[in-house]
Amino acid sequence: SMNGRTLMSMLGNGVRFVSFRSKHSGPKVALLGANGGIGQPLGLLLKINPNIGRLALYDIVGTPGVAADLSHIDSPAEVKAFTGPQELQKALEGADVVVIPAGVPRKPGMTRDDLFNTNAGIVRDLCEAVAKTCPKAFVAIITNPVNSTVPIASEVFKKHNVYDPKRIFGVTTLDVVRAQAFVSTMKGTDVSKTTVPVIGGHAGVTIIPLLSQVKPSVKFSDSEVKPLTERIQDAGTEVVQAKAGAGSATLSMAFAGERFVNALLKGLKGEKQVQCAYVKSDAVQGVEYFSTPIELGPNGVEKILGTGTLNAFEKQLVQSAIPELKSSIEKGVKFVKK
Ligand code: NAD
Ligand code: LMR
Repeated sequence: SMNGRTLMSMLGNGVRFVSFRSKHSGPKVALLGANGGIGQPLGLLLKINPNIGRLALYDIVGTPGVAADLSHIDSPAEVKAFTGPQELQKALEGADVVVIPAGVPRKPGMTRDDLFNTNAGIVRDLCEAVAKTCPKAFVAIITNPVNSTVPIASEVFKKHNVYDPKRIFGVTTLDVVRAQAFVSTMKGTDVSKTTVPVIGGHAGVTIIPLLSQVKPSVKFSDSEVKPLTERIQDAGTEVVQAKAGAGSATLSMAFAGERFVNALLKGLKGEKQVQCAYVKSDAVQGVEYFSTPIELGPNGVEKILGTGTLNAFEKQLVQSAIPELKSSIEKGVKFVKK
Protein backbone atom coordinates (compact mmCIF):
# COMPACT_ATOMS: atom_id res chain seq x y z
CA SER A 1 0.00 0.00 0.00
CA MET A 2 1.04 3.64 -0.39
CA ASN A 3 1.11 3.77 3.35
CA GLY A 4 3.86 1.15 3.43
CA ARG A 5 7.39 1.51 2.22
CA THR A 6 6.77 0.36 -1.31
CA LEU A 7 5.48 2.48 -4.10
CA MET A 8 4.22 0.85 -7.24
CA SER A 9 4.71 3.10 -10.16
CA MET A 10 3.64 2.61 -13.71
CA LEU A 11 6.37 3.42 -16.17
CA GLY A 12 5.47 2.97 -19.80
CA ASN A 13 4.35 -0.62 -20.21
CA GLY A 14 6.35 -1.85 -17.25
CA VAL A 15 5.59 -1.93 -13.59
CA ARG A 16 8.41 -0.90 -11.28
CA PHE A 17 8.64 -1.39 -7.57
CA VAL A 18 10.55 1.33 -5.82
CA SER A 19 11.50 0.69 -2.26
CA PHE A 20 11.93 3.59 0.16
CA ARG A 21 13.71 3.24 3.43
CA SER A 22 13.06 5.84 6.08
CA LYS A 23 16.30 4.92 7.83
CA HIS A 24 19.39 5.50 5.79
CA SER A 25 22.01 2.83 6.23
CA GLY A 26 25.35 3.84 7.64
CA PRO A 27 26.32 5.61 10.81
CA LYS A 28 24.89 8.87 12.10
CA VAL A 29 27.14 11.90 12.65
CA ALA A 30 25.92 14.92 14.64
CA LEU A 31 27.75 18.18 13.94
CA LEU A 32 27.33 20.77 16.71
CA GLY A 33 28.18 24.28 15.53
CA ALA A 34 27.21 23.43 11.95
CA ASN A 35 26.58 27.02 10.84
CA GLY A 36 30.08 28.22 11.73
CA GLY A 37 33.27 28.91 9.84
CA ILE A 38 34.37 25.32 10.44
CA GLY A 39 30.88 23.85 10.64
CA GLN A 40 29.84 24.73 7.09
CA PRO A 41 32.81 23.30 5.16
CA LEU A 42 33.03 20.36 7.59
CA GLY A 43 29.34 19.70 6.96
CA LEU A 44 30.08 19.71 3.23
CA LEU A 45 32.90 17.18 3.57
CA LEU A 46 30.81 14.96 5.84
CA LYS A 47 27.86 15.15 3.42
CA ILE A 48 30.05 13.84 0.59
CA ASN A 49 31.63 11.12 2.73
CA PRO A 50 29.98 7.99 1.31
CA ASN A 51 30.36 6.12 4.63
CA ILE A 52 27.90 8.39 6.46
CA GLY A 53 24.19 7.52 6.53
CA ARG A 54 22.77 10.44 8.45
CA LEU A 55 24.13 13.91 9.16
CA ALA A 56 22.46 15.99 11.87
CA LEU A 57 23.36 19.69 11.66
CA TYR A 58 22.91 21.51 14.96
CA ASP A 59 23.55 25.16 15.77
CA ILE A 60 21.81 27.94 17.67
CA VAL A 61 21.16 29.76 14.39
CA GLY A 62 21.17 29.21 10.64
CA THR A 63 20.99 25.43 10.34
CA PRO A 64 17.88 25.30 8.09
CA GLY A 65 19.75 27.15 5.35
CA VAL A 66 22.90 25.05 5.60
CA ALA A 67 20.84 21.84 5.63
CA ALA A 68 18.66 22.88 2.66
CA ASP A 69 21.80 23.70 0.71
CA LEU A 70 23.75 20.52 1.57
CA SER A 71 20.71 18.26 1.11
CA HIS A 72 20.71 19.04 -2.64
CA ILE A 73 24.04 17.24 -3.07
CA ASP A 74 23.50 13.80 -4.63
CA SER A 75 25.41 11.81 -2.03
CA PRO A 76 23.82 9.20 0.28
CA ALA A 77 23.86 10.97 3.66
CA GLU A 78 20.44 12.21 4.82
CA VAL A 79 20.84 15.78 6.11
CA LYS A 80 18.62 17.29 8.79
CA ALA A 81 18.66 20.66 10.57
CA PHE A 82 18.22 21.17 14.31
CA THR A 83 18.17 24.65 15.79
CA GLY A 84 18.46 25.72 19.40
CA PRO A 85 18.61 23.81 22.70
CA GLN A 86 15.04 22.51 22.39
CA GLU A 87 16.08 20.52 19.29
CA LEU A 88 19.47 19.35 20.56
CA GLN A 89 18.25 16.03 21.91
CA LYS A 90 16.67 15.11 18.57
CA ALA A 91 19.90 16.01 16.79
CA LEU A 92 21.83 13.65 19.05
CA GLU A 93 19.46 10.67 19.15
CA GLY A 94 21.21 7.60 17.74
CA ALA A 95 24.44 9.45 16.92
CA ASP A 96 27.52 7.28 16.51
CA VAL A 97 29.88 10.25 16.30
CA VAL A 98 29.38 13.76 17.69
CA VAL A 99 31.70 16.45 16.30
CA ILE A 100 31.89 19.73 18.17
CA PRO A 101 33.25 22.89 16.50
CA ALA A 102 30.78 25.16 18.41
CA GLY A 103 32.27 28.23 20.05
CA VAL A 104 34.11 31.46 19.39
CA PRO A 105 37.44 31.65 17.50
CA ARG A 106 40.50 33.79 18.28
CA LYS A 107 41.23 37.27 17.06
CA PRO A 108 44.81 38.60 16.68
CA GLY A 109 46.52 39.02 20.06
CA MET A 110 44.48 36.35 21.81
CA THR A 111 45.65 32.97 23.11
CA ARG A 112 43.40 29.93 22.85
CA ASP A 113 43.01 30.08 26.62
CA ASP A 114 41.43 33.54 26.22
CA LEU A 115 38.46 31.66 24.68
CA PHE A 116 37.89 29.64 27.85
CA ASN A 117 35.32 31.98 29.41
CA THR A 118 32.96 31.67 26.45
CA ASN A 119 33.69 28.19 25.16
CA ALA A 120 33.93 26.20 28.40
CA GLY A 121 30.21 26.67 29.08
CA ILE A 122 29.26 25.86 25.49
CA VAL A 123 31.18 22.56 25.54
CA ARG A 124 29.87 21.69 29.01
CA ASP A 125 26.25 22.23 27.99
CA LEU A 126 26.57 20.34 24.70
CA CYS A 127 28.29 17.43 26.48
CA GLU A 128 25.51 17.32 29.12
CA ALA A 129 23.11 16.62 26.26
CA VAL A 130 25.45 14.04 24.70
CA ALA A 131 25.83 12.27 28.08
CA LYS A 132 22.03 12.09 28.44
CA THR A 133 21.12 11.22 24.84
CA CYS A 134 23.94 9.25 23.19
CA PRO A 135 26.48 8.43 25.92
CA LYS A 136 28.14 5.73 23.76
CA ALA A 137 28.90 8.06 20.87
CA PHE A 138 32.47 8.98 20.00
CA VAL A 139 32.88 12.67 20.83
CA ALA A 140 35.38 14.66 18.75
CA ILE A 141 36.03 18.08 20.26
CA ILE A 142 37.39 20.84 18.05
CA THR A 143 36.37 23.79 20.26
CA ASN A 144 39.29 25.65 21.84
CA PRO A 145 41.00 25.61 24.21
CA VAL A 146 41.17 21.88 23.41
CA ASN A 147 43.64 21.33 26.28
CA SER A 148 40.79 22.32 28.65
CA THR A 149 37.62 21.42 26.72
CA VAL A 150 38.50 17.69 26.65
CA PRO A 151 38.84 17.57 30.47
CA ILE A 152 35.56 19.53 30.67
CA ALA A 153 33.78 16.96 28.50
CA SER A 154 35.28 14.13 30.55
CA GLU A 155 34.11 15.63 33.86
CA VAL A 156 30.58 16.06 32.48
CA PHE A 157 30.46 12.39 31.45
CA LYS A 158 31.79 11.38 34.89
CA LYS A 159 29.03 13.40 36.54
CA HIS A 160 26.46 11.44 34.56
CA ASN A 161 28.18 8.08 35.28
CA VAL A 162 28.72 7.41 31.59
CA TYR A 163 32.41 8.30 31.30
CA ASP A 164 34.38 6.21 28.85
CA PRO A 165 37.83 7.74 28.25
CA LYS A 166 38.16 5.70 25.06
CA ARG A 167 35.37 7.72 23.42
CA ILE A 168 36.36 11.33 24.04
CA PHE A 169 38.85 12.95 21.66
CA GLY A 170 40.44 16.36 21.34
CA VAL A 171 40.97 16.90 17.62
CA THR A 172 44.64 17.71 16.96
CA THR A 173 44.62 16.42 13.38
CA LEU A 174 45.21 19.93 12.03
CA ASP A 175 48.62 20.01 13.73
CA VAL A 176 49.53 16.77 11.95
CA VAL A 177 48.14 18.05 8.63
CA ARG A 178 50.21 21.23 8.93
CA ALA A 179 53.36 19.40 9.96
CA GLN A 180 52.99 17.08 6.96
CA ALA A 181 52.37 20.01 4.60
CA PHE A 182 55.35 22.01 5.88
CA VAL A 183 57.79 19.08 6.00
CA SER A 184 56.96 17.84 2.52
CA THR A 185 57.22 21.35 1.07
CA MET A 186 60.56 21.92 2.78
CA LYS A 187 62.06 18.54 1.85
CA GLY A 188 60.36 17.92 -1.47
CA THR A 189 58.85 14.61 -0.31
CA ASP A 190 55.57 13.16 -1.62
CA VAL A 191 53.03 14.80 0.68
CA SER A 192 50.58 11.93 0.30
CA LYS A 193 53.14 9.55 1.80
CA THR A 194 54.71 11.85 4.42
CA THR A 195 53.69 11.21 8.02
CA VAL A 196 54.64 13.37 10.99
CA PRO A 197 53.45 12.53 14.50
CA VAL A 198 52.51 15.58 16.60
CA ILE A 199 52.11 14.92 20.31
CA GLY A 200 51.22 16.86 23.48
CA GLY A 201 48.31 19.27 23.36
CA HIS A 202 46.82 21.87 21.05
CA ALA A 203 48.21 25.29 22.02
CA GLY A 204 51.61 26.94 21.52
CA VAL A 205 54.44 25.10 23.27
CA THR A 206 52.18 22.13 24.04
CA ILE A 207 52.17 21.29 20.29
CA ILE A 208 55.14 18.95 19.80
CA PRO A 209 56.02 17.77 16.29
CA LEU A 210 58.31 14.73 16.29
CA LEU A 211 60.59 15.57 13.38
CA SER A 212 62.87 12.66 14.32
CA GLN A 213 59.98 10.29 13.51
CA VAL A 214 59.02 11.62 10.07
CA LYS A 215 58.28 8.80 7.62
CA PRO A 216 59.72 8.16 5.10
CA SER A 217 62.75 9.25 7.11
CA VAL A 218 64.21 12.68 6.31
CA LYS A 219 67.19 14.45 7.83
CA PHE A 220 66.92 17.93 9.36
CA SER A 221 69.91 20.04 10.33
CA ASP A 222 69.88 21.61 13.80
CA SER A 223 69.28 24.97 12.19
CA GLU A 224 66.17 23.62 10.47
CA VAL A 225 64.57 21.82 13.43
CA LYS A 226 63.95 24.79 15.72
CA PRO A 227 62.27 27.20 13.26
CA LEU A 228 60.23 24.39 11.70
CA THR A 229 59.06 23.23 15.14
CA GLU A 230 58.09 26.80 16.01
CA ARG A 231 56.27 27.32 12.74
CA ILE A 232 54.14 24.22 13.43
CA GLN A 233 53.48 25.42 17.00
CA ASP A 234 52.45 28.88 15.79
CA ALA A 235 50.62 27.87 12.61
CA GLY A 236 47.20 28.61 14.11
CA THR A 237 48.38 32.12 14.97
CA GLU A 238 49.73 32.52 11.41
CA VAL A 239 46.16 32.02 10.12
CA VAL A 240 44.60 34.23 12.83
CA GLN A 241 46.98 37.05 11.81
CA ALA A 242 46.34 36.60 8.10
CA LYS A 243 42.56 36.68 8.65
CA ALA A 244 43.08 39.87 10.66
CA GLY A 245 40.07 39.68 12.94
CA ALA A 246 37.82 37.53 10.75
CA GLY A 247 38.55 34.36 12.74
CA SER A 248 40.93 31.41 12.65
CA ALA A 249 41.54 28.36 10.50
CA THR A 250 38.28 27.00 9.10
CA LEU A 251 38.98 25.33 5.74
CA SER A 252 42.09 23.40 6.77
CA MET A 253 40.31 22.55 10.02
CA ALA A 254 37.31 21.22 8.15
CA PHE A 255 39.65 19.06 6.07
CA ALA A 256 41.42 17.81 9.20
CA GLY A 257 38.15 17.26 11.05
CA GLU A 258 36.74 15.14 8.25
CA ARG A 259 39.94 13.08 8.16
CA PHE A 260 39.63 12.40 11.88
CA VAL A 261 35.89 11.61 11.80
CA ASN A 262 36.45 9.26 8.87
CA ALA A 263 39.13 7.44 10.88
CA LEU A 264 36.68 7.11 13.80
CA LEU A 265 34.06 5.67 11.45
CA LYS A 266 36.50 3.21 9.90
CA GLY A 267 37.57 2.16 13.39
CA LEU A 268 33.93 1.66 14.34
CA LYS A 269 33.59 -0.73 11.38
CA GLY A 270 36.62 -2.70 12.60
CA GLU A 271 39.18 -1.24 10.21
CA LYS A 272 41.92 -0.30 12.66
CA GLN A 273 43.30 3.22 12.16
CA VAL A 274 46.18 5.18 13.64
CA GLN A 275 45.69 8.89 14.37
CA CYS A 276 47.10 11.39 16.83
CA ALA A 277 44.48 12.77 19.25
CA TYR A 278 44.37 14.41 22.67
CA VAL A 279 42.88 11.82 25.01
CA LYS A 280 43.02 10.49 28.56
CA SER A 281 46.48 8.97 28.55
CA ASP A 282 49.31 7.79 30.73
CA ALA A 283 51.87 8.16 27.94
CA VAL A 284 53.69 10.94 29.80
CA GLN A 285 54.07 11.23 33.57
CA GLY A 286 52.55 14.29 35.22
CA VAL A 287 49.59 14.93 32.89
CA GLU A 288 46.28 13.09 32.60
CA TYR A 289 45.59 14.03 28.99
CA PHE A 290 48.10 13.89 26.18
CA SER A 291 48.12 13.40 22.44
CA THR A 292 50.19 10.61 20.90
CA PRO A 293 49.47 8.26 18.03
CA ILE A 294 46.59 6.01 19.08
CA GLU A 295 44.97 2.99 17.51
CA LEU A 296 41.28 3.51 16.79
CA GLY A 297 38.80 0.64 16.61
CA PRO A 298 35.19 -0.33 17.40
CA ASN A 299 35.52 0.87 21.01
CA GLY A 300 37.28 4.13 20.18
CA VAL A 301 40.81 4.17 21.60
CA GLU A 302 41.99 0.56 21.31
CA LYS A 303 45.60 1.26 22.15
CA ILE A 304 47.73 4.25 23.10
CA LEU A 305 50.85 3.83 21.02
CA GLY A 306 52.88 6.32 23.06
CA THR A 307 55.53 8.85 22.14
CA GLY A 308 58.06 6.49 20.61
CA THR A 309 61.75 7.27 21.10
CA LEU A 310 62.33 11.00 21.55
CA ASN A 311 65.62 12.80 20.93
CA ALA A 312 67.03 15.29 23.45
CA PHE A 313 65.35 18.28 21.77
CA GLU A 314 61.94 16.56 21.77
CA LYS A 315 62.31 15.44 25.40
CA GLN A 316 62.92 19.08 26.27
CA LEU A 317 59.80 20.12 24.35
CA VAL A 318 57.73 17.61 26.33
CA GLN A 319 59.11 18.93 29.62
CA SER A 320 58.30 22.51 28.60
CA ALA A 321 54.74 21.52 27.72
CA ILE A 322 53.86 19.84 31.00
CA PRO A 323 53.25 22.89 33.23
CA GLU A 324 50.89 24.57 30.73
CA LEU A 325 49.09 21.30 30.00
CA LYS A 326 48.65 20.62 33.70
CA SER A 327 47.17 24.02 34.43
CA SER A 328 44.86 23.91 31.39
CA ILE A 329 43.61 20.48 32.49
CA GLU A 330 43.07 21.61 36.09
CA LYS A 331 41.22 24.70 34.88
CA GLY A 332 38.82 22.53 32.88
CA VAL A 333 38.23 20.06 35.71
CA LYS A 334 37.60 22.88 38.21
CA PHE A 335 35.13 24.53 35.85
CA VAL A 336 32.82 21.51 35.92
CA LYS A 337 33.30 20.71 39.60
CA LYS A 338 32.63 24.28 40.80
P1 NAD B 1 32.61 30.44 14.22
O1 NAD B 1 32.31 31.56 15.15
O2 NAD B 1 32.72 30.74 12.77
O3 NAD B 1 31.51 29.31 14.37
C1 NAD B 1 31.11 28.83 15.61
C2 NAD B 1 29.69 28.34 15.51
O4 NAD B 1 29.30 27.85 16.80
C3 NAD B 1 28.67 29.43 15.13
O5 NAD B 1 27.88 28.99 14.06
C4 NAD B 1 27.84 29.59 16.40
O6 NAD B 1 26.49 29.92 16.15
C5 NAD B 1 27.96 28.20 17.00
N1 NAD B 1 27.61 28.15 18.41
C6 NAD B 1 27.87 29.03 19.39
N2 NAD B 1 27.35 28.60 20.55
C7 NAD B 1 26.76 27.41 20.29
C8 NAD B 1 26.05 26.47 21.06
N3 NAD B 1 25.83 26.67 22.38
N4 NAD B 1 25.60 25.36 20.47
C9 NAD B 1 25.81 25.15 19.16
N5 NAD B 1 26.49 25.99 18.37
C10 NAD B 1 26.94 27.12 18.93
O7 NAD B 1 33.96 29.74 14.74
P2 NAD B 1 34.87 28.66 13.97
O8 NAD B 1 35.88 29.36 13.18
O9 NAD B 1 34.00 27.65 13.33
O10 NAD B 1 35.64 28.00 15.23
C11 NAD B 1 34.96 27.23 16.16
C12 NAD B 1 35.88 26.74 17.26
O11 NAD B 1 36.88 25.84 16.75
C13 NAD B 1 36.69 27.85 17.95
O12 NAD B 1 36.68 27.63 19.34
C14 NAD B 1 38.08 27.69 17.40
O13 NAD B 1 39.07 28.18 18.27
C15 NAD B 1 38.16 26.19 17.26
N6 NAD B 1 39.20 25.68 16.36
C16 NAD B 1 39.86 24.56 16.74
C17 NAD B 1 40.82 24.00 15.90
C18 NAD B 1 41.54 22.75 16.30
O14 NAD B 1 42.56 22.43 15.69
N7 NAD B 1 41.08 21.98 17.27
C19 NAD B 1 41.09 24.60 14.66
C20 NAD B 1 40.39 25.73 14.29
C21 NAD B 1 39.44 26.28 15.16
C1 LMR C 1 44.29 26.39 15.00
O1 LMR C 1 45.27 25.76 15.40
O2 LMR C 1 44.23 26.87 13.86
C2 LMR C 1 43.12 26.56 15.91
O3 LMR C 1 43.40 26.09 17.19
C3 LMR C 1 42.57 27.94 15.90
C4 LMR C 1 43.48 28.93 16.57
O4 LMR C 1 42.99 29.68 17.43
O5 LMR C 1 44.67 28.99 16.25
